[in-house]
Amino acid sequence: MTKAAIESAAAPTTEPLDLDWVRAQVPSLSQLVNGYPTAFLDGPGGTQVPQRVITAISDYLRTNNANTCGAYATSRHTDQVIAGARAAMADFLGCEADEVIFGPNMTSLTFALSRSIGRELGPGDEVVVTHLDHDANISPWRALEERGVKIQFADIHEEDCTLNMDDLASKINSRTKIVAAGYASNAVGTINDVKTIVRLAHEAGAIAYIDAVHYAPHGPIDVRELDCDFLACSTYKFFGPHMGVLFGKREHLVRLQPYKVRANTNAVPQRWEWGTLNHECIAGITACVEYLAELGRTHVAPDALARGGRVRAPAPTRREMLQDAYTAIRAHERRLMQQVLRGLREIPGLRLYGISDSSRLDSRCPTFAVRIDGHTPLELATKLGQQGIFTWDGNYYAINLTERLGVEKDGGFLRIGLVHYNTEQEVERVLDALRRF
Ligand SMILES: Cc1ncc(COP(=O)(O)O)c(C=O)c1O
Repeated sequence: MTKAAIESAAAPTTEPLDLDWVRAQVPSLSQLVNGYPTAFLDGPGGTQVPQRVITAISDYLRTNNANTCGAYATSRHTDQVIAGARAAMADFLGCEADEVIFGPNMTSLTFALSRSIGRELGPGDEVVVTHLDHDANISPWRALEERGVKIQFADIHEEDCTLNMDDLASKINSRTKIVAAGYASNAVGTINDVKTIVRLAHEAGAIAYIDAVHYAPHGPIDVRELDCDFLACSTYKFFGPHMGVLFGKREHLVRLQPYKVRANTNAVPQRWEWGTLNHECIAGITACVEYLAELGRTHVAPDALARGGRVRAPAPTRREMLQDAYTAIRAHERRLMQQVLRGLREIPGLRLYGISDSSRLDSRCPTFAVRIDGHTPLELATKLGQQGIFTWDGNYYAINLTERLGVEKDGGFLRIGLVHYNTEQEVERVLDALRRF
């Protein structure tokens, strides 16, 4: 597609969500690179942020910048900012505010938690992880091998990169203390049956630790419905700042012992937060949840809600608005997934790793891992990048999966990762560029 054709392409009018409003919220989407409009198809690596997130971060630094629990105005405001973000994330996750822990990222939070849980584990205990997971949900558990804990790996179905639930079930037994699994794969887009995973863990008396980093921008999370013990996500993957968030059931946060400095409080959840937090980014977290809530309240087509089985509540709570936002996000992403799958099928020499069947879209996110004969993923990503199309190449830290599929030594995959601000025109651009390789 030529630059002129890209610029003149008309926006679709029958969107489940108001895409013009969505894109107007996010200033970075209108940038040009090498004279081309940027197509951010790199959402799984981190998403673009609405202006209100940028404003909240800079407003905090301008007017409230202080440490917590001091006896003066800016410190008290900082306490309120953090409490507000906990409440926002509680609405986002479906839990209580004192079950929300903030940290620098999911990886650090998972290492910190594995250390704490590991204090009670030793030889004879087992942890189950999966080959589908990002290494941030594998290495923190493998670190427990130094205490004599045995790590069991649940396998995948190679043909569609779904988790082999029979294999997972066979690895869980009375010695299993933790089952660590992803909600969705950041490499191939598979959505796991997390509720069943949690049930299998609980039947064996084990803790279920869910990595929802990749799922969070694509679908609503309800930790009570899942009944998981812990669930981690990263706000920079769902339109917020670079931070990690961990939900933990209160009973665990009270009973388990974190490694902590003596002066830190023993109150839950603060005793699970180490050192001074990134207050300005925490201010941005509330703004990103508010963005999604506003999207759900006013920028969703009523028929998209009806098709998603939802009726708009007369005075919706923030959580209901978030659920409505995700109903529309899922509907929009489904359309994009169908378009991508149709287009990829027609590209000679292209292999898609993951679910390719358009009737199984409930089991995948719009995250596509591909290889094209005769080209390395790096070469593909570089050439796309020169045309303003931002994709990713390599293993994206899902290294067990790239090794398991035998592509690690050949550069992994090219990943096309869509989120709700992406358009049909952007999908057509990347398909068109791939056809030309
Ligand atoms: C599925 C998944 N889990 C965990 C992580 C690690 O998250 P963080 O960067 O917040 O440590 C990522 C990051 O890409 C991811 O995609």
